Amino acid sequence: MTYRRSDEPKGSEITPESIWTDRRQVVRTLLAASTVSLAAPSVAAGSPTGRILEAKRNPAYVADEPLNSWDDITTYNNFYEFGTDKSDPARSAGTLRPSPWSVTVGGEAEVRGTFSLEDLLKPHALEERVYRFRCVEAWSMVIPWVGFPLAELIKRFKPTSKAKFVAFTTLRDPVQMPGQRSAVLDWPYVEGLRMDEAVHPLAFLAVGVYGRALPNQNGAPLRLVVPWKYGFKNVKSIVRIDFVEHAPTTTWAAANPREYGFFANVNPAVDHPRWSQKTERRIGSGVFAPRIATRPFNGYTEVASLYSGLDLSKWI
Ligand code: MTE
Repeated sequence: MTYRRSDEPKGSEITPESIWTDRRQVVRTLLAASTVSLAAPSVAAGSPTGRILEAKRNPAYVADEPLNSWDDITTYNNFYEFGTDKSDPARSAGTLRPSPWSVTVGGEAEVRGTFSLEDLLKPHALEERVYRFRCVEAWSMVIPWVGFPLAELIKRFKPTSKAKFVAFTTLRDPVQMPGQRSAVLDWPYVEGLRMDEAVHPLAFLAVGVYGRALPNQNGAPLRLVVPWKYGFKNVKSIVRIDFVEHAPTTTWAAANPREYGFFANVNPAVDHPRWSQKTERRIGSGVFAPRIATRPFNGYTEVASLYSGLDLSKWI
């Protein structure tokens, strides 16, 4: 694997910005066709901003439906460290300093230590993958992430046979993350995966979106993306990765175990105690757009064998 520095571009492999622009245009045209005067006022359409990343598109993960726009992805967020409204993170996440950044890797692994983000990323070639994203609140998006498979990173750290789970921890710093001054969640935000889930080829560590470094509100500079699970598993602004023997206590499961489980697999057959999970609202599709049927594992049924023998109505 090679990591190309930004001063060594390989133009043919970069998604030209014009393609994004064209795709956004397609999305907007579709939106214009599907929304009428009642559509919510849209945020001024913006072009992707931020540091350009060099990433090769992975043809195994491309869109068969319109992508959400840069504005959808970067202005409708859940990041409680910056407030509980969807619009709060885009407004408030400017206080986060994603550089310099370091990540500590610990626990049941032969290789451990604290690494600068640059050192952590160095061995990994970045790729672009379009994934569907399904929030537990029954809205969804289609997002072109830039990053690399989590399995590649895990392999480098040589977890021992005791490592049954991987825990991911977000930065805790109430100065940079003012939402942590309130006890709305138990900080820092922690998420986890079973080891076989973590090394599944779909599990992804993202450093960018739309060919640009992650905006702060999307979890700069490093976040998890597990597309067959509800959005809350996708922990943002990661500073620790720990290989552990027992399932870690994860933030939402601890806050309300009846409503949010450790597995959090997208499952239309199991309603949330307060709402149905059978359908979802695609962000940006307009008020008259029909809701979309939610699919088991968010359509990524190749993961089903990870759960054979597990009653998924109990193990939510
Ligand atoms: N990570 C942290 N640290 N804090 C959060 O509040 N929210 C989660 C997840 N990761 C959250 C987090 C939830 S509920 C969702 S739906 C996704 O981030 C939203 O990601 P997005 O804002 O990039 O769409």
